[in-house]
Amino acid sequence: MPVSGPSIRLKNISRHYGNVCAVDGVSLDIAAGSMVALVGLSGSGKSTLLKMMNRLVEPDGGEIIIGADPVDSVDPHILRRRIGYVFQNIGLFPHMTIARNIAIGLELAGETEGRRERIAELLELVELPQEMASRMPDQLSGGQQQRVGVARALATRPGLMLMDEPFGALDPVTRDSLTDQYKALHQRLGLTTIIVTHDMAEALYLADRILVMEAGRIRADATPAELVSGNVGEEAEALVAIPRAQAAHLIALGNKS
Ligand SMILES: Nc1ncnc2c1ncn2[C@@H]1O[C@H](COP(=O)(O)OP(=O)(O)O)[C@@H](O)[C@H]1O
Ligand SMILES: [Mg+2]
Repeated sequence: MPVSGPSIRLKNISRHYGNVCAVDGVSLDIAAGSMVALVGLSGSGKSTLLKMMNRLVEPDGGEIIIGADPVDSVDPHILRRRIGYVFQNIGLFPHMTIARNIAIGLELAGETEGRRERIAELLELVELPQEMASRMPDQLSGGQQQRVGVARALATRPGLMLMDEPFGALDPVTRDSLTDQYKALHQRLGLTTIIVTHDMAEALYLADRILVMEAGRIRADATPAELVSGNVGEEAEALVAIPRAQAAHLIALGNKS
């Protein structure tokens, strides 16, 4: 069931909250099928930027075009069927089974045909056993719940996935395996993915391209290789210094053995 992820174009996008400028004139082109990591300190505008793409937040200036369509020309409900959204502490509905949690988007869209098969397919996609379908969310581990969150986001076959620190609350081992599996899923389904993370090592591992935000602006825009080796400017330098040193240390240890 491969889909084809859309390209994204932001033209001078801004958003204020009162006096606070959360996003400050961001322009950006993202290629179809790419995996982009958005990093930056807390409060730098990452979540606001994502939420403007699926119209959870409206920009107060600029234009966003996803595929061929300016997002403000698309009904928000239709838009959100085309865009999967995963965030930290996914917030599964506690009184609904896993199956129903996964299918909630289909239910809202009135898609009743083949729902059971679709749930089975989605469970398989996120590598959860089929018997989880009838469980309640509190009977799953944190990592399993985040898998359900990914399955739910994929249910309507979106081409674009917006992921806001999706695995940030999980232990490092679970996070690594989910990150790995998500990367494979992204490639297999041909998705376009934008993932917010505060973990630079994760960004370096996952993304084709890393954007560093600070105070509502994109201060660095580089490939992982450029970020590790190149001159990326002061802000990005401060963010990347520690994982770069860790990587160098690991390589040095490897050379000794
Ligand atoms: N709903 C909101 N109301 C008021 N201020 C907000 C709201 N959402 C975000 N902000 C402010 O906008 C700025 C950017 O926030 P956010 O996009 O959440 O950043 P990040 O995701 O990088 O932590 C911060 O100063 C934050 O306090
Ligand atoms: Mg945020």
